[in-house]
Amino acid sequence: MSNHNEHEETTNHGGLTRKEISRRQFLTYTLGGATAFMAGGAVIPMIRFAVDPLLQKKDTGAFVKVAEESKITEEPTEFTFQKHQVDGWYESDPTFSAYIARDSKGEIFALSPICQHLGCTVGWNSDKKFPNEYHCPCHGAHYTKDGKQLAVARGPLKQYDIRIENGWVYLGDIIENTRVK
Ligand code: FES
Repeated sequence: MSNHNEHEETTNHGGLTRKEISRRQFLTYTLGGATAFMAGGAVIPMIRFAVDPLLQKKDTGAFVKVAEESKITEEPTEFTFQKHQVDGWYESDPTFSAYIARDSKGEIFALSPICQHLGCTVGWNSDKKFPNEYHCPCHGAHYTKDGKQLAVARGPLKQYDIRIENGWVYLGDIIENTRVK
């Protein structure tokens, strides 16, 4: 014989069968559901708060005023600048470096000095054996003025997105080198 308070049981009402649940099961389901609902209401905003910054687009594309246009010559010159970055919850103002120069047509371009071998920093005309080239002191990679790799590195120096406005050179994101094929 079944116990009404503890177990589900099947009853027959005029040929129709239905399952009945005990009071304890009813309370368990109801309280469980209510607890889950309330916990969800508290936890979901916390999860959103924690994860949301990761879903935001990284702050990119901003341009920074770096140098006076009139000061740029055909000789690559190093400039440093700070750029505000927001990555998830983390905000920072790292320092960047760029070699800015004019090409033979007078067009201004900027290269990143990060060596494309293993990430050391290259210098312009920094080794007498490689005049008028970028040279990396770590393993000897060297590059032309346009950033084309001549040894060791597998790719050219990267370039900065550039904008000239009101006599100033603005630099943006680091992009692939468009000057060398
Ligand atoms: S990191 Fe520049 S040559 Fe290796």
